[in-house]
Amino acid sequence: MLKLTVISREGIPHTLAPVSGTSAMEAIRDAGVDELLALCGGCCSCATCHVYVNPEFADRLPPASDDENDLLESSEHRRANSRLSCQLPLTEALDGLEVTIAPED
Ligand code: FES
Repeated sequence: MLKLTVISREGIPHTLAPVSGTSAMEAIRDAGVDELLALCGGCCSCATCHVYVNPEFADRLPPASDDENDLLESSEHRRANSRLSCQLPLTEALDGLEVTIAPED
């Protein structure tokens, strides 16, 4: 079983057990963490699923697409470890992933 830790904007950690193949956004939304709006439903067109990924996982993440990169560029809260959680499929390679929900733009 995979493990995903999501840290809320208030710093409260939630440990989830997502099904392999779901995106981090889906796992977070399905767990009822409602800070993550994910308004476009995972179509990579809203950036309301913005998270900061623990840098320890940086080299295991899939590269960001141009669309994802453009959307992140529009956020005033972008950091080097910013990603859109709908673009992060959870696989064994990302078991134990830790993300923090970014501030709302
Ligand atoms: S849910 Fe809209 S970009 Fe991720």
